[in-house]
This record gives sequence, C-alpha cells and structure tokens, in this order.
Amino acid sequence: MSTPPLVAGTAKVPATGLAATVRVPGTSANLGPGFDSLGLAVALYDTLSVETLDDDGRLEFDLRGEGADEVPRDEGHLAVKAMDLAFARLGYRRGGLKITAENVLPHGRGLGSSASVIVAAITLANALVDPADAQDRAWVLQLASEMEGHPDNVAPAIFGAMAISWQEGEDFRSVRVAPAEAITPVVAIPAVEVKTEMARGMLPATVPHADAAANAGRTALLVHALANDPSLLLAGTRDYLHQDYRAEAMPASAALVADLRSRGFAAFISGAGPTVMTLAQNQAEAVRVQEAIAEHAQAHAPADGVFWRVLALTVDVDGAKVEVHRR
Ligand code: HSE
Repeated sequence: MSTPPLVAGTAKVPATGLAATVRVPGTSANLGPGFDSLGLAVALYDTLSVETLDDDGRLEFDLRGEGADEVPRDEGHLAVKAMDLAFARLGYRRGGLKITAENVLPHGRGLGSSASVIVAAITLANALVDPADAQDRAWVLQLASEMEGHPDNVAPAIFGAMAISWQEGEDFRSVRVAPAEAITPVVAIPAVEVKTEMARGMLPATVPHADAAANAGRTALLVHALANDPSLLLAGTRDYLHQDYRAEAMPASAALVADLRSRGFAAFISGAGPTVMTLAQNQAEAVRVQEAIAEHAQAHAPADGVFWRVLALTVDVDGAKVEVHRR
C-alpha cells in the first residue's frame, strides 16, 4: 500500500477547534520465541493529545515525562511524521496543531515506546478527519507496521492483550489472544538503553535448522501456555533465535534472565531489550519473582547504585483508546 500522491490544493484539512486524546499501552515484543510476531500489551500508558489550530501549519508542543527533553519539537517529532503520513493516506494534510504528550514508557528499553507514539499519532489523525473518511483499526495496524517495520509491538498497542502478527506480501495482519487472567508480567527495567537497530544488527543471517524447529515448537507452546496453561510458560518462553546472539549487548539483562529461569520463572528479554520481563503465573509468583530480582541485584549491584526499576504490571486488554471533542 503506497501513499497516493496528493495534488497541491486537493487535500482536505481537519476542522479547527477539535481536540482528541489517545492513551496507548506499552508493549513487550517477542515474549521469548515469538520473534517479530508475538507481543503483549501492559498497563503502562503514554498519552498523546492534539488540538487543531488555524490552518497555518503551526506546530506547538507541550511534552512531559520520559524522553521529553530528547525529542525534536518540529516536523522531525515521530508523532508529527506519523500524523503526516496518516493524513496523506486519508487524503488530508496537517493544519496548525498543538501536540501534548505525557510519556511514561522509557525510550530504548524494549517496552514499545516508538510503537506507542506511532500508534497514538495515526489513531489521532484518523480520529480528526471527517467520520466518512475515517478508517478502521486494521488500517491503523497496516500504516503503523509499515512505519515501525514490524508489527509485533504496534498490534498489541492497538488491540490490547496478546497479538499474533504476520505479514502477507505487503499486508500486515494480526489476531488477538486473551491471556489467562492471573498472568502477571513483572518488568525489570535497567538504567541503560539498547537501540533496536543495533540489536537487530547482531542477528545472524541464517540459523541452524534444529534451532528453527525447536523455536517453532516453543512459540506454539507459548500461545497455549498464555491462553490456557500458565504452568507451561517457562518451557514456552524458551527462545532459540535472538537472545543468545544479542547477549553481549546487554550482559546484565542476559545474566538476570538466566538466573530467573534457573529458579523456574518464565523470564525473557522484552523486545530488543534490555528490559527483562517475567510472566508470573499469578500474583503470588510475581512477588517471588520480585524477591528473586532483588536478590540478584544485590549480588550484582553496580558501584553507582540502583540498576533495575522493577514493576509488577497487569495485562492491558483494551489497546489504544481515543476520545474526540470539539472545544
Ligand atoms: N522483534 C523486534 C526485535 C522487537 O527483537 O528486534 C521490536 O519490535
């Protein structure tokens, strides 16, 4: 699906005086073996709001929270890029906009912060056009996946719960699977960042057939474990495709995953890392996971103090939620 060329003057502009807000969950991609295909939405939310100003192309920003001082306050902001692409696909162009962001998701940690911005911006652009021109969430998935390059974070950010995503030619598709209710994700977020692009560069072009076969089995098992039998989560989160190849870029995370798994907990690298996620079978196990992380952290404490921010979360089941109102 390519962007149709817009003849100058033919594109519509969203009405002025509209305001819209979207709340998008953080996401963990891969979940161990589901490389580039599985993702889980968690209840940690970024919020993006837009007000339409006069049609003068002016951009105003009010950015707060994670990363607020590191991102550009012009057309280079990821939200503006995503909105511009969405407007163009819808036959619109951007007028003046005020953009307000309240970010909670840390950048570069494998919790879907860029997917969250992209999904938020495309959802908002779609909400601001005339209802007759607006598209459905499958359209948001397509555009967001094209921008992100893979659908594993954007799909659960849009639909909530766990998403199994795939690509058919140019088309991105996804189905939503509800995890068993008691499953409690625990994240250990380290103080360091790892760039996804760099982590992808560490992967080999080919893998042994035996690893691919083992990985396929574990991915299938993981879907069953998440939906029906959490006691199989440890076996179901075993990966053969990416974590070992990337361990050198995130040695502290790799060591924590190994330690937690040796204690029987279903730990893995969240997305391209370096956050460590553990899928506890229930809240009681989540408490034991947090105790184990604290014990590990104490034994491997860096000289400069606390390294891990540890949070017990819930699974988000709603995905992106948008509200539009006229000011
Ligand atoms: N599947 C991606 C990776 C995660 O591991 O590189 C971010 O989408």
